[in-house]
Amino acid sequence: MPLMPFDIPPSSNLIGGDWICSDAKIQITDPSTGHPLTQIARGTAADIDAAVAAAQVARAGDWGRMTATERGRILTRIGQAVLDHTDTLARIEAQDVGKPLTQARADAVALARYMEFYGGAADKIMGETIPYLDGYTVYTLREPHGVTGHIIPWNYPMQIIGRSVGAALAMGNSCVLKPAEDACLTALAFAAIAQKAGLPAGALNVVTGLGSEAGAALASHPGVQHMSFTGSVRTGEAIQAAAAKNVIPVTLELGGKSPQIVFDDADLDRALPFLVNAGVQNAGQTCSASSRILVQRGVYDQVRARMVEAYNALRVGPALDDLNLGPLISARQTDIVTGFIAQGADLTIAAQGQIVTDATGHYVAPTLFADVPPDHVLAQDEIFGPVQVLIPFEDEAEALRIANGTAYGLVAAIWTRDGARQMRLARALHAGQVFINNYGAGGGVELPFGGVGKSGHGREKGFEALYGFSTLKTVAAWHG
Ligand code: NAI
Ligand code: MG
Repeated sequence: MPLMPFDIPPSSNLIGGDWICSDAKIQITDPSTGHPLTQIARGTAADIDAAVAAAQVARAGDWGRMTATERGRILTRIGQAVLDHTDTLARIEAQDVGKPLTQARADAVALARYMEFYGGAADKIMGETIPYLDGYTVYTLREPHGVTGHIIPWNYPMQIIGRSVGAALAMGNSCVLKPAEDACLTALAFAAIAQKAGLPAGALNVVTGLGSEAGAALASHPGVQHMSFTGSVRTGEAIQAAAAKNVIPVTLELGGKSPQIVFDDADLDRALPFLVNAGVQNAGQTCSASSRILVQRGVYDQVRARMVEAYNALRVGPALDDLNLGPLISARQTDIVTGFIAQGADLTIAAQGQIVTDATGHYVAPTLFADVPPDHVLAQDEIFGPVQVLIPFEDEAEALRIANGTAYGLVAAIWTRDGARQMRLARALHAGQVFINNYGAGGGVELPFGGVGKSGHGREKGFEALYGFSTLKTVAAWHG
């Protein structure tokens, strides 16, 4: 079976409904083996110009005139087509990203779910009428921004396409998508599926390539009215600075250092799988990874012992072998993560999982550090690899201080049976999402998601995203 089905020509971008082959190419590799996989287009500023122009044409044409109901129907059809191709998409993602097949399949299903959710929501966004002066009728209209830019990372391509492009299309925007150079194949495959399912030409354009070239050109393009970005804080700052020049809104999702707080009265049998999985899923390359486990003294030794047991059972190997963890995305990411682990030389490694392959991919053994001081670099910086730190605490006040004591604020979890404590902490925690006695269960397509502090701003997922991908117009009519 060819790597890329759907008749997608090699090294091409989708612009205005046509696959345009690029002269400039980038060789990409399979992270599980380090071997060459295929070539992708190295998109240029001119390609971005063409994609933005095609998006504008779509806005002015069939796509822009389409009713919300029709848009919803198309998205729903795309969702079904994605489901029909779950295994194909999962195999592509496994080879491109190094994701174990089961996780890649779950991402494909989540992508379908986003299309279903936003397909159903498309015609349920309404304005309001506002009581005003005598002789006036005032109402609001929710309108698309126009052309929306989407720069996405390599860790969850399908899910992030779903949550950002899905919501933007539902509101009637035309999208230009620049996927990450390390992981763009499912973006291309998705665009092909969407086109076959009836998405009009130009409603979704995909330009692959480097962040410093295609990415920077898209972020600074004067024809773009809204930017959605998920990735590093550094690049997020650059995206926001570029958007400031064009005075357009941005949504930034920049990762985190998300804590789970385990109190003495927690249901540990329920908590344990969440504590570990939230740290090692996708080899820890997850914006909402839970990299800090804060545990009250009374159960600290027990939690530590049980996490050690879980870590000892973790197996790492090629994505197609479908073990607990695959490789990291690249040699560069491996260097970053092993660099962090080396900075923990003064700490105690409580346990490590096992690499069970001789393949020459980018493998890192999942690593659990114990008794980590809250101000240690491993307890402060986003590592973006399979590394978790255990931090003991005495009481609720100290737990809150530690939990809120980083620059980030994406997700937090509270494990306790004390209802009043649940409510107090849910309010006091600096985070865009707080989970009580669970962590990210169900994937959360329906749940607004985003951060505070260096984790970014703006919300994607759920209904809330539809407000972000639209703008409000107020109409005040005097009729006497
Ligand atoms: P990155 O933020 O540089 O890359 C994300 C996306 O931005 C990619 O599509 C890339 O091509 C694009 N990009 C890069 N520079 C750009 C620029 N100047 N203008 C416009 N677009 C640009 O992240 P990178 O280098 O892949 O990973 C570095 C670190 O970032 C990771 O170690 C991790 O800590 C963090 N990260 C966080 C993610 C999250 O989900 N919040 C996702 C990926 C990375
Ligand atoms: Mg790749």
